[in-house]
Amino acid sequence: MTKTYLITGTNRGIGLEYCRQLKEQGHEVIAVCRSPSEELEALEVQIEKDVDLTSEQAVNSLVARLNGKKIDVLINNAGIVERNTLEELDFDSISRQFEINAIAPLQFTKALLSNLDNGSKVVLMTSRMGSIEDNTSGGSYGYRMSKVALSMAGKSLSHDLKPKGIAVAILHPGLVKTRMTNFTDSGITTETSVKGLLTRIEELDLNNTGTFWHSNGEILPW
Ligand SMILES: NC(=O)c1ccc[n+]([C@@H]2O[C@H](COP(=O)([O-])OP(=O)(O)OC[C@H]3O[C@@H](n4cnc5c(N)ncnc54)[C@H](OP(=O)(O)O)[C@@H]3O)[C@@H](O)[C@H]2O)c1
Repeated sequence: MTKTYLITGTNRGIGLEYCRQLKEQGHEVIAVCRSPSEELEALEVQIEKDVDLTSEQAVNSLVARLNGKKIDVLINNAGIVERNTLEELDFDSISRQFEINAIAPLQFTKALLSNLDNGSKVVLMTSRMGSIEDNTSGGSYGYRMSKVALSMAGKSLSHDLKPKGIAVAILHPGLVKTRMTNFTDSGITTETSVKGLLTRIEELDLNNTGTFWHSNGEILPW
């Protein structure tokens, strides 16, 4: 069945690959970005540009353009990583990562609530770096703190949206070769990651809402 997916951070990396695979499967894709790339434009999906997710005005303008359109799956994918060691802590950088990685997806989901319906799904792209139990190496203060906050927002959303029939997934894509990881050799491809992520989204329902999954299906510790 054809569904409508709205995805953020779609000009490159994992967001671009979500658009590619979903378009190939015949779904309707609304690709939200600040500025489209040639690769995104080549997919011929609906592109909603000039949406900086930290701008309330840009988000409100997008919501107005959507004009009440029903969204089956909202994928909050956009995010940033900045390096923060204990020796070189930069609190503006930590705040920026909180704003983009944790607060913006919550604000965006709230802004789109009237476009979601019984049976809709919300995805938050968090990270294993935001698992407290899995943190065996320290560092990355801003990224780790912002992603654990995002996971907590996801857990609360899963409770608050359950009565409306909306399920929420908190997903880790794996270590993926994207600009965010400097296309690391030890990473998996965006193709493999998104294939797994879409399987998790397919499996998501009100019985397993609020689960923290690896794209490979493993349930991750908080
Ligand atoms: N790659 C990995 O190994 C990995 C691992 C764990 C979790 N993740 C998570 O997966 C998601 C996608 O990561 P990726 O690897 O595909 O990263 P990426 O290639 O760096 O892409 C990040 C995307 O987020 C967008 N973005 C950043 N700030 C934004 C803002 N203020 N408003 C609107 N869009 C904004 C970027 O748009 P611009 O081009 O306009 O900046 C870009 O499209 C992120 O949430 C990331 O934390 C990735």
